[in-house]
Amino acid sequence: MDLFQFHVWEDSWAHDPSWQDTVTEMKDRGLIGGVGISVNRWEPWNVLRTLETGLIDAVQVIYNIFDQAPEDELFPACRELDVAVIARVPFDEGTLTGTLTRDSRWPEGDWRNTYFVPENLVPSVERAERLARIVPEGMTMPELALRFILANPDVATVIPGMRKPAHVRANLATSDAEPLSEELMAALREHRWDRRPTEWSQ
Ligand SMILES: NC(=O)c1ccc[n+]([C@@H]2O[C@H](COP(=O)([O-])OP(=O)(O)OC[C@H]3O[C@@H](n4cnc5c(N)ncnc54)[C@H](OP(=O)(O)O)[C@@H]3O)[C@@H](O)[C@H]2O)c1
Repeated sequence: MDLFQFHVWEDSWAHDPSWQDTVTEMKDRGLIGGVGISVNRWEPWNVLRTLETGLIDAVQVIYNIFDQAPEDELFPACRELDVAVIARVPFDEGTLTGTLTRDSRWPEGDWRNTYFVPENLVPSVERAERLARIVPEGMTMPELALRFILANPDVATVIPGMRKPAHVRANLATSDAEPLSEELMAALREHRWDRRPTEWSQ
């Protein structure tokens, strides 16, 4: 396995020998190439002590036009410790595709029905509407969302969720696009949205 990732991490486990010994043995036996940690939603700092162990090769973190907080502490730490960054949830679970409305509902059993509760859905849609005003002509909001992330040299790769071939093609094409202008990047910085974990956000 190229990359073995831990899910739902707590930084208080940083010095627990049980995981440290296990991943060291898995690497020594050639079972895994690298070890990664997927950081909980809106807690990019909840991994910093673990990175300092030197045992971690990659961090998977929510990073997008709204969730810019990983730039504060996590990305500088990754740069210093040579840890790769995997940016996940680049469209804020769909908000940054510009397709959600205040009435959006998903098929029964789709977890987004419990995530986009009115307390989350309404401000998300309002913010997407504000963002839509600065999407340049000829560009889509999903393209802008991916190009914002790709502009950051700290990010090694982006993993958008995709179920449609058309989305795969559109998203892959953004890798070849020109960098966004400095003016546009500055305007996108204004759309940062710091949120706190709550019962519907897990
Ligand atoms: N480690 C963790 O804890 C964790 C947690 C959550 C997610 N993840 C991973 O993170 C990745 C992304 O997360 P995500 O899927 O939850 O959120 P996301 O990438 O922010 O959003 C996915 C949504 O965007 C839509 N979309 C994708 N490309 C589009 C395009 N070009 N135009 C319009 N809409 C587009 C998709 O629609 P369609 O479905 O219609 O294609 C889907 O509804 C996934 O690979 C997932 O496995 C990891």
